[in-house]
Amino acid sequence: MDKSRAQWSSRLGFILAAAGSAIGLGNIWKFPGRAYEGGGGIYLLIYLGMVIFFGIPLMLTELSIGRASQANVVGAFRKLGHRRWSWVGWVGVLGAFIITCYYSHVGGWVLRYVFGYAMEAPAIYADPLGYFYATLGLGADENTFFPWVAILFAALFMALNAVVIIRGVESGIERFNKIGMPALFVILVILLVRSLTLPGAEEGLRYMLSFDTGKLSFDTVLSALGQAFYSLSIGMAILITYGSYLPKTEDLSKNTVLICAMDTMVAFLAGFIIVPAVFATLGADHVGKGGGFAFVSLAGVFEKMPGGRLFGVLFYVLLLFAALTSCISLIEGIVAFLTEQFGWERKRTTIVSCAVMFLIGCLYTCTQAAYPLKGIWLDAVNGLSFPPFCDAMEYFTDRLLIPICALGCCLFAGWVWKPESVIAEVEQHGVRFGLKRVYAVLIRYIAPLAILLILALSILGGKTFS
Ligand code: TRP
Repeated sequence: MDKSRAQWSSRLGFILAAAGSAIGLGNIWKFPGRAYEGGGGIYLLIYLGMVIFFGIPLMLTELSIGRASQANVVGAFRKLGHRRWSWVGWVGVLGAFIITCYYSHVGGWVLRYVFGYAMEAPAIYADPLGYFYATLGLGADENTFFPWVAILFAALFMALNAVVIIRGVESGIERFNKIGMPALFVILVILLVRSLTLPGAEEGLRYMLSFDTGKLSFDTVLSALGQAFYSLSIGMAILITYGSYLPKTEDLSKNTVLICAMDTMVAFLAGFIIVPAVFATLGADHVGKGGGFAFVSLAGVFEKMPGGRLFGVLFYVLLLFAALTSCISLIEGIVAFLTEQFGWERKRTTIVSCAVMFLIGCLYTCTQAAYPLKGIWLDAVNGLSFPPFCDAMEYFTDRLLIPICALGCCLFAGWVWKPESVIAEVEQHGVRFGLKRVYAVLIRYIAPLAILLILALSILGGKTFS
């Protein structure tokens, strides 16, 4: 094995870093709203099924490709002797690049709110929407000025990422996750206790444990599948990079199950925090998802809850850690690719790529702030369209790049490199791979068909499933 290549120093370090990649904004701010819309308990059940049948096999596949090849996302396919499949890595890197552009800016807004709750919570309570608008540079009378607050905080957020990446895999990424992830779990538990002890929280809790099959629909199932992929960081080949830093003695299948379990647990916990808290304070119909919910509606929740300001700060610190550890993994995937493929130096590569992604992200924030920048999109329902630039970025990654890259990984592992190679990669140093037959069937037939369906619906039906 290449001695000069970076490696995780311990199993725990790797697990926390991979869990840190998976656990992100997707779990804490997207998941609760989706779980609510999808019918509560029944959605949790479907989601769990998606993680088990599709999430675990795909994550295991990406990690195995990485560890077997000991290379970055693009180099991996070449090293395994299938140069023609490098496109899968390219799609992954492109997806990671676009996601980082906007993820880092949303991370910046989160950072803004940590400061906001700590220093001027009454101003947020007084006018939650106005405060959010002011962050984005929008005046109350709908006129737009430059969103410098959002951009400043995004720059700060990006700089934090760069500092960790420059320090390297072991003393940067691993060390940061070893602090950030336990902190995240502690905050989650504190918030859970706070939420569930609010008067009126039982109703929300009951909803999250209800199994109303009437809410079941095809759309819900597909939405759960897309959410599972996004949440587990699948389909961007980032896990190939993280897997490549793993020693051969590690049990990949066990680690995969553990990482998926942690990610799912955090998503569920976030659901059990947010939904009951909103039920108890604002009422059921205020549960929502996305930016408006995370930054605007939640203000009312914290305002009404005893000790709300402290819990507000804690909540945004939680989001911040989640966003940072995910963003770090995205950037590491890109930096590993650039340094290995082109022989560039790590520090300079990190600084330049972070700067470029930050600048492109500014366009995202500016469009959120109502500057009329347009992107381009094509699907069978609307034909050629010019959605706002920020939406176009998300369409490209969620509707196109993630499913294509995931499909590429499945086809590669199922039909080209073959499930036997994945199994052989797992079964080294006395490790046993329990359900290898099931894995082979899933990766060859079932997962590719499900992803094809997602792709067809997003191109033909103009739908987003992540
Ligand atoms: N999983 C992250 C979240 O839940 C976001 C994400 C999607 C991601 N794809 C990724 C992170 C790839 C790292 C790599 O928010």
